Amino acid sequence: MTRLSGKVALVTGAASGLGAATARRLAKEGATVVLTDRDIVGEDIAAHIVDTGGRAVFRLHDVTSQPDWAAAVEHAVADFGRLDILVNNAGVAGGNHELMDHSFDAWRQILSVNLDGVFLGLRHAGPRIAASGGGSVINISSILGKVGMAGAAAYCASKGGVTLLTKAAALEWAPLGIRVNSIHPGFIDTPMVSGALAGREDGNEMRVALMAAHPLGRFGVPKEIGDAVAFLASDDASFITGAELVVDGGYTAQ
Ligand SMILES: NC(=O)c1ccc[n+]([C@@H]2O[C@H](COP(=O)([O-])OP(=O)(O)OC[C@H]3O[C@@H](n4cnc5c(N)ncnc54)[C@H](O)[C@@H]3O)[C@@H](O)[C@H]2O)c1
Repeated sequence: MTRLSGKVALVTGAASGLGAATARRLAKEGATVVLTDRDIVGEDIAAHIVDTGGRAVFRLHDVTSQPDWAAAVEHAVADFGRLDILVNNAGVAGGNHELMDHSFDAWRQILSVNLDGVFLGLRHAGPRIAASGGGSVINISSILGKVGMAGAAAYCASKGGVTLLTKAAALEWAPLGIRVNSIHPGFIDTPMVSGALAGREDGNEMRVALMAAHPLGRFGVPKEIGDAVAFLASDDASFITGAELVVDGGYTAQ
């Protein structure tokens, strides 16, 4: 498993859930991984990757901050000489909001992390990936970037935005040799999902119902998304750009 040896990858939101699993998977494939997150706990994930023979560093980074993006990308290039892979993974669920009384502040907060953060990632990392001769960008959208869900208007809007932002970037950057794809996970067992369910009185019933909505009858596990990211990052996906890779146990096939 060394499809990514010699490559440098930056993964946002790498302190938890899908980002941590992705960072581990890319490191196993031989990439040097720059893990970033606004949560310092990401240092432990990077240290564990190094302890188990991989190459990784951690940088504090809020994806809504332009100066943070500039610093994260500059450090990656200064420390490792290049940038080949960007995984725009950081995101927030943002809670349950009925549209009839949705606050504009909550809307803006969800959009700023989930959509503005991806735009800023493309804007700052794109030129560096181009300077490395091309590469691969993977944006973590959601099944909720393809289908709606009541109570999640801002989340759905942000992830739907990521779906088409991905395609526009893919078209602009094809001539530069940069492939840009989105991944659409179903419900995956991470702190984001357990936190959202724990915050509801009917959390247990909701978990059972949501699992049943996936034809494979379960939630996904973070590694299953890391595997999909590693595929799209590698030359095994060399003719894939502007695509939506759905990893949802059949949720959106119905
Ligand atoms: N878990 C799922 O079921 C699921 C399904 C579809 C899509 N997703 C998407 O996958 C991505 C990862 O989700 P997860 O389930 O691993 O969530 P998670 O809450 O476990 O991890 C998200 C990480 O993002 C970080 N983060 C949040 N805001 C940030 C910011 N402004 N700057 C930097 N880092 C920030 C958090 O600190 C956290 O470490 C998100 O974009 C999420 O929307 C998750």
